[in-house]
Amino acid sequence: MKTREIHPARRVRGETSLPGDKSLAHRFALVASVADGVSRADNFPVGADCASTLRCLEGLGVPIIRRNGTIEIEGRGFGGLVAPNRDLDAGNSGTTVRLLSGILVGQSFSSTLVGDASLGSRPMGRIIEPLRRFGADIQADDDSHLPLRIRGGRLRAIEYRLPMASAQVKSAILLAGLQAQGTTVVTEPTRTRDHTEIALRESGARIRVSDGRIEIDGGVPIRSRSVSIPGDVSSAAFLIAAALAIPNSELRLTGLGVNPTRTGCLSLLERVGARIVLDKLRNDGGEPVANILARSSTLSMMKVHPSSIPTLIDEVPILAVLGTRATGGFEIRGAGELRLKESDRIEAVVKNLRAIGVRVEEFFDGLRIPGDQKIEGGTVSSFGDHRIAMAFAIAGLLSKSGVTIEDVGCVDISFPGFFELLDRLVEH
Ligand code: S3P
Repeated sequence: MKTREIHPARRVRGETSLPGDKSLAHRFALVASVADGVSRADNFPVGADCASTLRCLEGLGVPIIRRNGTIEIEGRGFGGLVAPNRDLDAGNSGTTVRLLSGILVGQSFSSTLVGDASLGSRPMGRIIEPLRRFGADIQADDDSHLPLRIRGGRLRAIEYRLPMASAQVKSAILLAGLQAQGTTVVTEPTRTRDHTEIALRESGARIRVSDGRIEIDGGVPIRSRSVSIPGDVSSAAFLIAAALAIPNSELRLTGLGVNPTRTGCLSLLERVGARIVLDKLRNDGGEPVANILARSSTLSMMKVHPSSIPTLIDEVPILAVLGTRATGGFEIRGAGELRLKESDRIEAVVKNLRAIGVRVEEFFDGLRIPGDQKIEGGTVSSFGDHRIAMAFAIAGLLSKSGVTIEDVGCVDISFPGFFELLDRLVEH
């Protein structure tokens, strides 16, 4: 088990680009696999989650060429995937299982999806239920856990109201709807990341979006495309937090994805006084992209509004760490979904903050951290969760005596090279 010690920082300085956005990369690859023609993406991330998606697609007969950060995927069209001769292993990646299931239900063969222990404990009933309504045969352990056995075939379009705000569930339904007979309609209770809608639209699918209601016409073939995947704003959040909290810091991040369904973290921080400037705003393959400059700031009370939770759901661990420095602290409620991520992120954040000398109140659906606290330091666990490991690496930079993080190998899930980049940008 790899352990890492992070020492207190004097300042953060520099400029960097970041690995491509994980959410966008999964979608690029999955949509490309059922498109007609060869799709290409630059800055395709090398993290383990996206590698899981690619490996599953290869298991389904999709030719993929990787070359220095560029990837080429030879699409097979709707009916062109082939029955895998082994289980499809999604590793740690919830996005892989849930989105790929939406494709597999439309294929006329049987397949089995498996994953690691963390993925095995995460709820899959949320996709099984709507995908069965399309007519697919899906079997799962106690009807909700991996392995998923999917026997696909002809699908009938459905109308579905999501019971929870989940981009993964929405995306699974849209990918099934793409292959179904008729028009599928999904409505979501709160707006979630819309990368699947954008990827499908850019690939020629007939998809209409208005007021939380998405319609997709089934059976319309989609075409290949070439994109450059912008830097991952969820990875950027760790570095931005460090630059805001550490005095005399200034950090420029170039070419980041800034889709508003992903940047709730930046909006919250700007609202509480963060000096964050976006420039060179542009559009790449339907997705907004910008450079971001972040400088040391004084932050006031960071309270998350329930409607913005999906737009910052993956940034809660780092917001909590940063909240120790805000004058009014940090508070989030109505975020029970956090307990269903790669780890129980409410429990992981609470345990780790306490282990490094921070006072925190735990709720079943969130947490509250009083403001203006010192982080003493100590030893924490990653709980096998990449975002917990990186959030507490930043806590180490802000601490008085340093933070040791156990089991940091999981950082490679989304951000290989994270610690090396910290070494380059941080002065001690
Ligand atoms: C993701 C959606 C979110 C997020 C996850 C990635 C996606 O999950 O937490 O890291 O790429 O669609 P949910 O859909 O479960 O909220």
